[in-house]
Amino acid sequence: MGSFCRKAFYWPVWSFAVVFVLLSSRCHGSCSEKELEKREEEANIVLTGTVEEILNMDPVHNTYSCKVRVWRYLKGKTMVNGEVLLDGGNKVMIGGFGDPHICDNQVATGDTRIFFVNLPPQFMWQSQNELMLNSSLMRITLRNLEEVEHCVEGKKHFNDSA
Ligand SMILES: *[C@@H]1O[C@H](CO)[C@@H](O)[C@H](O)[C@H]1NC(C)=O
Repeated sequence: MGSFCRKAFYWPVWSFAVVFVLLSSRCHGSCSEKELEKREEEANIVLTGTVEEILNMDPVHNTYSCKVRVWRYLKGKTMVNGEVLLDGGNKVMIGGFGDPHICDNQVATGDTRIFFVNLPPQFMWQSQNELMLNSSLMRITLRNLEEVEHCVEGKKHFNDSA
């Protein structure tokens, strides 16, 4: 009898715990993926490239930077200049990998991806000559490239007619 009562008491506690865990992982999920259109809007620069080297590993925040060989700019080529460019302009430094706000934030050497990046915020300009990852990495497939291009192009036409 006593053990039955205890079980009956614990059951609601457990169900509360489960609901709490489910809710909190939904609300405080460390990353949230926005629509592609939104991501394209927020990134001033979108490029395809291959990771050549991983550098500046931060052991505390688990973030790192990469030297990326650029294949093609889908957006914002003219914004990339000066100290961000490496090795005669074929490569760029990109930081912010491992950022918990970004869902797909990990690369390995040799990975080829679509990168959504921004220039570093003004206050970091002096210390970090690198572009900052702004949203999830994207695999290069024909479909993904077409979708990103479609977002970039759509905006261009809109701006032209405005
Ligand atoms: C991405 O860029 C936008 C500005 O375009 C900024 O508000 C946002 O915080 C950036 N996201 C990350 C994860 O840095």
